[in-house]
Amino acid sequence: MASKTDLCSWPEPVVSVQSLADSGAVAVPGKYVKPPSERPVLIGGGGRGVQIPVVDQRGGRAAAAQAISEACREWGFFQVVNHGVPAELVEAVRRAWRGFFRLPLEAKNAYANSPRTYEGFGSRLGVEKDAPLDWGDYYFLNLNPASPDEYWPALPDELRAVTEEYGGELRRLCEALLGALSAGLGLEEGFLREAFGGAERVGTCMRVNLYPKCPQPELTLGLSPHSDPGGVTVLLADDHLDGLQVRRQGEWVPVRPIAGAFIVNVADQIQVISNATYKSVEHRVIVNEEEERLSIAFFYNPSGDVSIGPAKELVSEERLALYPAFTFDEYRRYVREKGPRGKSQVESLKFHD
Ligand code: OGA
Ligand code: NI
Repeated sequence: MASKTDLCSWPEPVVSVQSLADSGAVAVPGKYVKPPSERPVLIGGGGRGVQIPVVDQRGGRAAAAQAISEACREWGFFQVVNHGVPAELVEAVRRAWRGFFRLPLEAKNAYANSPRTYEGFGSRLGVEKDAPLDWGDYYFLNLNPASPDEYWPALPDELRAVTEEYGGELRRLCEALLGALSAGLGLEEGFLREAFGGAERVGTCMRVNLYPKCPQPELTLGLSPHSDPGGVTVLLADDHLDGLQVRRQGEWVPVRPIAGAFIVNVADQIQVISNATYKSVEHRVIVNEEEERLSIAFFYNPSGDVSIGPAKELVSEERLALYPAFTFDEYRRYVREKGPRGKSQVESLKFHD
């Protein structure tokens, strides 16, 4: 699966979307305009009235575990409330990253990223020349093992400390979520964590997304449809703005963030290990004309070098393995080269229907 494409540099100069938005453009440049079938329907769109499940962790461990497992079988997406991550820390991390994105472009460009590791400030995914682009900038950072010092923004002052603390809290939250998902498969609580390489080696990282105001939100997307390649994703979204949409039975269902909640989704590696009991779900981001939107996606992933495949406990004569084994390092090259492409990668790996 690993291809030989050189991930050293971007195929063309990268333009920050924030700088485009700030230039006062009244039209979206052609590279950001999606073909009609991919454009969002901003008013009266599909899936109105339906909402992803909400899990309350205060309701007791067993009840929460059951609700998490059900939500991940049925939806692959849910919001979690009373998750125990202090509200002040959540606010501090939001404030720090907003502060970073408000720095002048030259200051941010000091951290400009490359497709080799994606760490740093960037505005595109994938290295195909002339590929269509999405209306968003981002900052990608590894937390465990951590990115080298030069990728940690020096400003705002408190950014590193609050981000590290937040990373520790989110990691604990993800471990609890993985425990619930393991139990929901009839396996030991530590099963998925061990399958990911064990507590010390799991990969954690985050992608802070900044979706600037857009003059023609009906023509473009903040982030094209994709499933997340890793284990689980915990998203902190602005609670007064819509943006994230989840694909459900062919319709795009908008997620209405609850104040203080996190939005959680199953990613591809959990679909593979669970032999498709849990599904990673396609999602996308729409933008708007009125207000910029910030989101912080925290990813809890397998260690890059452990072999990931359907758990042997879940495979039988009646239920054959749906996927071959591979490492996450091999797997994630696809999105790094091709950019967001729906669920095409995990689907194309499938052995049987
Ligand atoms: C992502 C993602 C959603 C959002 O970063 O993978 O899906 O609302 N983000 O920004
Ligand atoms: Ni995503």
